[in-house]
Amino acid sequence: MSILVNVDDPALLAGLASRVNAARALLQEVAADFSPAAFASSLGAEDMVLTDLIVRDRLDIEIFSLDTGRLPPETYELIDEVRKRYGLALRLYYPRHELLEAYTREYGINAFYESVELRKGCCHVRKVEPLQRALAGRKAWITGMRASQATTRSELPIRNFDAANGLQKFNPLAEWSEREVWAYLKHNGVPYNALHDRFYPSIGCAPCTRPITPGEDVRAGRWWWENPESRECGLHVKRA
Ligand code: ADX
Ligand code: SF4
Repeated sequence: MSILVNVDDPALLAGLASRVNAARALLQEVAADFSPAAFASSLGAEDMVLTDLIVRDRLDIEIFSLDTGRLPPETYELIDEVRKRYGLALRLYYPRHELLEAYTREYGINAFYESVELRKGCCHVRKVEPLQRALAGRKAWITGMRASQATTRSELPIRNFDAANGLQKFNPLAEWSEREVWAYLKHNGVPYNALHDRFYPSIGCAPCTRPITPGEDVRAGRWWWENPESRECGLHVKRA
């Protein structure tokens, strides 16, 4: 996590410089050739790298976040800090109230702990349906995913056609290591979620995220009661 990285390691910084150049070139291409494009930010460490790069180059890429209503206070604080630091008002998308009211009436407020199906149902109402609205009319979207984050992401491409949502998808940090992400943040003084310093490398909704212990997988704290194979929220569905 943030505290474990030696940001002055020359080998790390040399590799980082070329990673940054490649990511900037890709983001510029997206802005120029895939307009209107949008970047989905969960305010995680990777997303803060991309936010910094997009703002730095004043790229015409809208940055949005899906406010599920169950995010931890630290994430809301960071949304506010981003607004102050960058003068950037993230576009926030919310669940449809009628869908959410129906879900909680039928299953309860914390039904996600009961089964994978109910958990995915909650993610659908609070994240996936709002994502579909956020992507409507776009030519491309950008995420902060990395291949080494999870077994479910090991084959993650830098670019591919997202058939489920019907537009191009870019993962500019697909090949970055966790150390490179943290070196970028620290070297450029980029704000980040306070939970990262409390052993939360991956942050989602508060009731579905816990801290990890040393040696655990970086996403071990997400939906920790489920098997690793099911631990995706449905935002990143593959369809052949
Ligand atoms: S996920 O399972 O919640 O999607 P993760 O937290 O690792 O996994 O996020 C991966 C990427 O999905 C983020 O870099 C971001 O692009 C997008 N994403 C996840 N959650 C949100 C959110 N609440 N709002 C916007 N984008 C999100
Ligand atoms: Fe619901 Fe948890 Fe999914 Fe958030 S992460 S939408 S609270 S199931």
